[in-house]
Amino acid sequence: MRKAYIDSIGMYVPSNVVTNKDLESRMDTSDEWIRERSGIQERHHVDGECTTDLALKASEEALEKAGMKPEDVDHIIFSTMASDYFAPGGGPMMTRRLGIPGTPALDIRMACSGFLYGLSVSKAFIESGAYENILLITSEVQSVALDFSTAGRDTAVLFGDGAAATVIKATDADQGILTVKTHSDGRYAEDLMLRTPSTLDNPFLTHEVLDKGYGRVSMNGRTVFKHAVTKFPQVINEALEASGVAKADIKLVVPHQANLRITEAVANRLDLELHKVVFSNIHKYGNTTSASIPIALYEAMAEGKIERGDYVVVASFGAGFTWGASVIKW
Ligand code: ACO
Repeated sequence: MRKAYIDSIGMYVPSNVVTNKDLESRMDTSDEWIRERSGIQERHHVDGECTTDLALKASEEALEKAGMKPEDVDHIIFSTMASDYFAPGGGPMMTRRLGIPGTPALDIRMACSGFLYGLSVSKAFIESGAYENILLITSEVQSVALDFSTAGRDTAVLFGDGAAATVIKATDADQGILTVKTHSDGRYAEDLMLRTPSTLDNPFLTHEVLDKGYGRVSMNGRTVFKHAVTKFPQVINEALEASGVAKADIKLVVPHQANLRITEAVANRLDLELHKVVFSNIHKYGNTTSASIPIALYEAMAEGKIERGDYVVVASFGAGFTWGASVIKW
């Protein structure tokens, strides 16, 4: 049966490294607090680059690794929470950046679950026979929407900027994306959001709404934490059951890198060993939203932790709330 498989991944993070110490000079925080609560040591922030700049660099690497030219891409899926323009989205912009005008492009805004939703759509597109070569781009610039004063410290210290691009192709071989399970629950929309620009305001962008702080990411950290540590294991078990793969056969679980305490709690609840079976690179990048899973997969491959034929689980939880998991035979 025709399946969709991950052929290659490219990644890019801006060169500007922001350490916890750097943040100490901008707000009342400490390296110790950030490490203890999140495991983050540093993150990368843009310095003049926009979302499609990051996306282009990651895409070029992914295409080169796949031995493809941009013209070989027959569909783009673009996931971000912050595209270059509020509208149009980043997908059409990427046809311009890659020099492939006319290529279909779809934008998804599923926050930290963007990669999972992207896998889900790619799997359906490829298995149906509609497309052969999909470029799933996950590119995130969050630093421009964070409040780096002490008032925003609970959120600002967690996020970093970064991008990944994943080439997903068709195959008849015994490998590929076996199952993807996704969920969403809008009852918690306000617990993690970037409110403005919003159609709740008319006109939707005024000095008044910006003065209220609505142009910054806001988060109810405890609610996010509580739901994340429950939903991650639930949806991983759901995806495993649907794929018929046993937990003991998983080579690596790559969760969305939200923060180390969430990853530790998920490893504990699933009774899986952190760092051996559950991957973490949050210390280097912070939370890069939908780019975090493919960036982690990229590094896991580079470290020799994933090889062809291995069973790999990826899982996410994020704003919306949204969550999902996928079982992949690499
Ligand atoms: N530096 C120093 N002190 C801080 C900081 C900071 N950056 N941020 C908050 N504090 C203070 C608070 O003001 C509070 O002080 P108080 O006791 O004087 O009032 C104290 O630290 C404790 O605050 P809490 O909010 O209770 O801290 P908590 O232990 O809940 O940790 C955190 C906060 C890290 C945000 C936690 O709730 C969490 O990890 N939530 C999950 C959030 C997350 O991962 N979001 C990512 C996006 S969603 C996703 O990707 C899944």
